[in-house]
Amino acid sequence: MSQFSPRVLSGMQPTGNLHLGNYLGAMLNWIKMQSTHETLYCVVDLHAITVWQEPKELRKAIRDVTAAYIACGLDPKRSIIFNQSRVHEHAELAWVFNCVARLGWLNRMTQFKEKAGKDKEKASVGLYVYPNLMAADILIYRATAVPVGEDQKQHLELTRDIAQKFNIDFADEIREQGFGDAYFPLTEPIITGPATRVMSLRDGTKKMSKSDPSDLSRINLTDSADDIARKIRKAKTDADGLPSEVKGLEARPEAENLVGIYAALAGSSVDGVLREFGGGQFSSFKNALADVAVAKLSPITEEMNRLLADSAYIENVLADGAARAGAIAAPIMHDVKKIVGLI
Ligand code: TYM
Repeated sequence: MSQFSPRVLSGMQPTGNLHLGNYLGAMLNWIKMQSTHETLYCVVDLHAITVWQEPKELRKAIRDVTAAYIACGLDPKRSIIFNQSRVHEHAELAWVFNCVARLGWLNRMTQFKEKAGKDKEKASVGLYVYPNLMAADILIYRATAVPVGEDQKQHLELTRDIAQKFNIDFADEIREQGFGDAYFPLTEPIITGPATRVMSLRDGTKKMSKSDPSDLSRINLTDSADDIARKIRKAKTDADGLPSEVKGLEARPEAENLVGIYAALAGSSVDGVLREFGGGQFSSFKNALADVAVAKLSPITEEMNRLLADSAYIENVLADGAARAGAIAAPIMHDVKKIVGLI
């Protein structure tokens, strides 16, 4: 038995609309874990400002993403829903982790390389230490499990490295202060389901992302039913029909992506989808996919709009969430300060 009680934390950046990748890769597992774990879901606004954000848009995006969380099925009574910057312990623990993590570890982070682009010298320092803040988000609650999409795997490995180094560096204090042989858990990444890496609808080798200049590349949770159907109809495919076995999908990224999306939306498996549609034409499969996508996503959009009309409600959720999150984080930060020798 682990000395740590099961607790989940995860987060999304308020940098525009949530899209189908966020929903299928992460949100579906977030929703499920509400019934098995204590759950904290964070809108990571401090991560958002590692690249320039227009203040007025950021303020709105924090509320929009909160509404999207709830509209997707997170229950503010069961889950703690809050924005990161309101719980100051995230930033405080991140500083301690800046002093635990090694430069060499951060230099290996592929997401920094992708986001910083060619001119690394011009990237913010925040973007570079971004993974340390992410480790702090998780470990300030001593969370044991983190449901995310495939693209966050490397960051979660770093989180484990930081936890382990902290546990080793401060082993004597941790033991003497009665915390046993480890203060932080080695958090488990939860990356499961048929769509852990949803790809662009325009290019099956690129991840679906908010920053893609083409809106046709992604389905936003705010898209209308017509937009969703149009984007799916226009999605890139190859000349062949759908194979009847998984083996035939491997070298066909666009087909693999659409089948994975269908499976995730319909609560089925890739095998199941191929049994139903294998051997058929893409056009009829795309119609079925558009139907299931609209059926699943339209109620979310509607609910989001309804929630956003009541700004006091969203404000209350965030204030209540921050108070509950802060009550867990404060004693942990206090322990960390004692362990490190700051108090
Ligand atoms: P973000 O905001 O980029 O994405 C939020 C979640 O959506 C998943 N995701 C995808 N999954 C499948 N296919 C895709 N195309 C796709 N695009 C995004 C991401 O894996 C993620 O789970 N660094 C994080 C936010 C973060 C965080 C944390 C996550 C900050 N602190 C602590 C977990 C725990 C990020 O930028 O996610």
